[in-house]
Amino acid sequence: MEYITTPIYYTNDTPHIGSAYTTLAADVLTRFYRLLSREVFFLTGTDEHGAKIAEAAEKAGQAPQVFVDNVSEQFKTTWDSLNIKPDGFIRTTDPKHEAIVQEFLQDLFDRDEIYLGQYKGWYCISCEEFKTETQIGPNNTCLIHHRELIELEEESYLFRLSKYQGQLRELIEHDDLIIQPISRKNEVLGFIEHEGLKDVAISRKSVPWGVSLPWDKGHTVYVWVDALINYYSAAQPSGPEFDSGKRPQFPPQLQLIGKDILRFHALIWPALLLASGKLLPKQLFVHGFFTIDGQKISKSLGNVILPSELIDRYGVDATRYLLISAIPFGEDGDVSIERFNTIYNSVLANNLGNLVSRFQSMLQKYNDSTVPDVETNLKDSYLFQVARTYKDSFSNFHLAALLSSLSASLDEWNKYIEDKKPWVLAKEEDKTELSTVLATLSEAIFIMSVLYSPFIPETAEKILSGFGSSITQINYDTLLEQNHTAGRKIVLIDPLFPRLL
Ligand code: ME8
Ligand code: MG
Repeated sequence: MEYITTPIYYTNDTPHIGSAYTTLAADVLTRFYRLLSREVFFLTGTDEHGAKIAEAAEKAGQAPQVFVDNVSEQFKTTWDSLNIKPDGFIRTTDPKHEAIVQEFLQDLFDRDEIYLGQYKGWYCISCEEFKTETQIGPNNTCLIHHRELIELEEESYLFRLSKYQGQLRELIEHDDLIIQPISRKNEVLGFIEHEGLKDVAISRKSVPWGVSLPWDKGHTVYVWVDALINYYSAAQPSGPEFDSGKRPQFPPQLQLIGKDILRFHALIWPALLLASGKLLPKQLFVHGFFTIDGQKISKSLGNVILPSELIDRYGVDATRYLLISAIPFGEDGDVSIERFNTIYNSVLANNLGNLVSRFQSMLQKYNDSTVPDVETNLKDSYLFQVARTYKDSFSNFHLAALLSSLSASLDEWNKYIEDKKPWVLAKEEDKTELSTVLATLSEAIFIMSVLYSPFIPETAEKILSGFGSSITQINYDTLLEQNHTAGRKIVLIDPLFPRLL
């Protein structure tokens, strides 16, 4: 079974399109694996302990548990509203997770991988992170959040991260722990090279909202360590239970994260696993950040876009499409409502929606809604070229690029209609060419809906249902080898993606 994870998001605030992006990408990948009949477990969840969450709860005038229960639920419903279907949703305040965190750390302590010391440094509560010299801005502020760092000096338990520097470098260099894109692998190797790994504080004395250390109840577990262990606790027989009734098998094959949390996932997390003699994840894929008009998405700048705003405006599938197609997966990029509008109208309404409805009405008009049972002309099409490289596109995480190829293929078929002019062919005595054109279009649309299905699953189902089929009936391995629609009488479906006014 394939085990794929997203970060677990902080419950200090409602989800925005940034957290939606990673979770959606994981859902798209999961649907792709399922299309290939591969078994997969997709885990996401919420990160609910620590000073940042306690601060947010206090601001809201709520007890931390009440506060996180509510925000965590908002994440769940947001994923549901985007048709994102994780197999497990983990919460760090789940007592079963907490117990495993305690066991995990007790074991490390028993192995002498953790020792009592003193930790001093500049801490950003919003990042929940001590900052190294190069990460500190003017007047001791956080370069990311621009909030004042606090100088912390307290007794704390430390993890012997420094001990693993050489081993981590080797693992990453040799792709035993794959970090993609390669620029991110180089970033991590550069960090090891230039700054080196120091032991890290894994407990806090002054943060009551957290999991207490089993051997010293005066300390709570540093929120990042608590959070990273979620990927492990979800896979334990004694771990949190999931609505799906399923359980993944440790370790994850693929961990998706944003670039902001690379060091935690590429260094601290594998080191914790090495220290406790556990298996390492196979691969880390690091994507970039959305910006809006070149600016970071932030509440204080007032430029936050909520998934619900997009869903209200464009619908669920279009929102999925717009987010995944917005920027190359792995790179940063700017998004804006203006661009979303343009892509919606040009690709989804004019290209995809139009192609399907033109095909359907022609078939109805010229052949009583029945797909002619004749040979088709698809082998040399651009669509088949895209289909033949489809799996590679996914293995290389070229998600947005794949969508642009599919969109080029929509152009191909709209142009095919313009060139062949079925309305002219329909007037000819000999209907051979008309039949070929209609059958070819029918197959093209059928195959395209399958290829689109991980991204826009409801739309794909709708199109397939018109053919009396469904995604679960598709055998991907023979997708290009057989004729799927010949002789079928199709059912007219409602227009897809109506144009925005
Ligand atoms: O860091 N563009 O949680 P978090 C793209 N709890 N992706 C974005 C984004 C943007 N503008 N903003 C956020 C945490 N993300 C920890 C993680 S994991 C053991 C603990 C996505 O709520 C991206 O995946 O701050 C990023 O890594 C994540 O949200 C950070 O979420
Ligand atoms: Mg963050």
